[in-house]
Formats: sequence, structure tokens, C-alpha cells
Amino acid sequence: MKPEELVQRALKAREKAYAPYSHFKVGAAILSTDGEVFTGCNVENASYGLTVCAERVALFKAVTMGRRSFSAIAIAAGTSDYCSPCGACRQVLAEFGGSTKVYMANCKGEYREMTVAELLPAAFNLTK
Ligand code: THU
Repeated sequence: MKPEELVQRALKAREKAYAPYSHFKVGAAILSTDGEVFTGCNVENASYGLTVCAERVALFKAVTMGRRSFSAIAIAAGTSDYCSPCGACRQVLAEFGGSTKVYMANCKGEYREMTVAELLPAAFNLTK
């Protein structure tokens, strides 16, 4: 799948974002190595700290469906800036491998690409 297509899936997922507090809507789409796409949006809560980011929703949906290996994830916000994943989401993505590509997109579908390892060097790991 082309990066542009994954970015479009993230932008589409963003439409479902539940963000009545921040009004900052985010969408994500993660591609498993067997070619499936799982999407997510941010889900906020009145108890602000319980909010879950779009990336983690997408990743947890994928893991719940039996996937543990990912080629790429696209993240999109409605801003002209590229949407960069928060620190918590970087750590959660790192759990499943540093080589996953991250397409950070803006409202126009333009994106820049980095890997999870580039975004989170020296990630915490219990096994290495
Ligand atoms: N958010 C995400 O969904 N992903 C990120 O990587 C950064 C932040 C959400 C959380 C919250 O609902 C809103 O954006 C503002 O922080």
C-alpha cells in the first residue's frame, strides 16, 4: 500500500474523533505486515487523563485482531503542521518494533516519514 493511501485512511478515521475538550481531532491508520489496515481516532474523556490517542486506538485494535508486526502507521491532524506522535504513543509503538515507518501528515495529506526508532531512540525495553 502506498503511503498516500494510508494517510488518506488516517484522515478519514479522524472524522470519527471524539474530542469535545481539546477540539483537536486526530486519525491514525496502521498497516500490518500481512497487509491489513486498522484505523483509530482519539477518544477524549471528561477526566482528561483518560483520553486515548488515535495511534494507540489503531494499534490496540490491530493487536486485538491478532497482529503484532507492522510496516507503517499514518497519523493525521487537521493542522498545516505534520502531526507528530506523543511520547506515550512512541513507547507503545516501540513495543512492536523500531523499524515501523511513521507517516506524519497534515490536513492536506502531505506527510513526512521517520521510523519509530528514529522518533524514540533508546526506547525502554525489558528484554534487551
Ligand atoms: N492526540 C493524539 O490522538 N495523538 C497524539 O499523538 C497527540 C495527541 C490527541 C489527544 C487529545 O485528544 C488531543 O490530541 C489533544 O492533545
